[in-house]
Amino acid sequence: FEETKKLANGSSIPRLGLGVWQVKDGDEAVDSVKWALETGYRLIDTAAAYKNEASVGEGIRQAGIPRDEIFVTTKLWNADQGYESTLQAFDESLAKLQLDYVDLYLIHWPVEGKYKDSWRAMEEIYQSGRAKAIGVSNFHEHHIEDLLTIAKIVPMVDQIEIHPTLTQEPLRKFLAANKIAVEAWSPLGQGKILANPTLIEIGKKYNKTAAQVIIRWHLQSDIIVIPKSVHQDRIEQNFDVFDFALTQEDIKQIDQLNTNERLGPDPENFDF
Ligand code: A2P
Repeated sequence: FEETKKLANGSSIPRLGLGVWQVKDGDEAVDSVKWALETGYRLIDTAAAYKNEASVGEGIRQAGIPRDEIFVTTKLWNADQGYESTLQAFDESLAKLQLDYVDLYLIHWPVEGKYKDSWRAMEEIYQSGRAKAIGVSNFHEHHIEDLLTIAKIVPMVDQIEIHPTLTQEPLRKFLAANKIAVEAWSPLGQGKILANPTLIEIGKKYNKTAAQVIIRWHLQSDIIVIPKSVHQDRIEQNFDVFDFALTQEDIKQIDQLNTNERLGPDPENFDF
């Protein structure tokens, strides 16, 4: 099993990382990031909107792992969309993280009338080498189709809400056909689906928890997965998924848990 995935531009992204949405700036973020890196995680996913970039950067420095062995993602917030403001927001993110570059910069949400101008700036940032890859988040198929009418560079990633109760199969197929890597946010359903009996039953066969089963389901479905936790034991548990494999039958059973229910906002009517 390959622990990294090649993006369309040839760069490699770890398939399993730490997400830090709702992780508090300060010790909580510093420690979570440090524990994750000590555990073996090499992907950290933050965003300007999470307001913890400074602590994420601090955690990275405290872990003492060479910069080029770590993959750092951050995202452009909605209020900063537009050409000039994107360039400025990116500089601010780098300054907070205290990094010279990020590995992936994403447009956080498809703000109508703005995301094309933002994308022009993203392309320039990419060409300057200060973002090694660029992509989008929460884009539906029609947003991407629209972006592609002006894009010189096809987004390398689309990060969307995916978990066993929102499997997003049509969008995932579209993304795969366009060589856009799929990344899942709220991959554990924000922890709300961990008591699901199907997931627990499957886990029993392998002596694994529901969380580990879900993470494995993402990995085996070619989805980059960034579970969030602020507890060291869970951060470790969530990374302990490379010593077992789900069967096709297990995966089919988990696919069938889909109810198309979102936990987060629908990009179609998000109040930007
Ligand atoms: P905590 O941060 O207190 O550990 P998602 O990644 O889908 O957003 O899910 C994150 C939620 O799931 C958080 O509330 C987190 O709580 C919880 N969580 C993460 N990993 C585990 C785990 N292995 N077991 C139980 N809960 C977990």
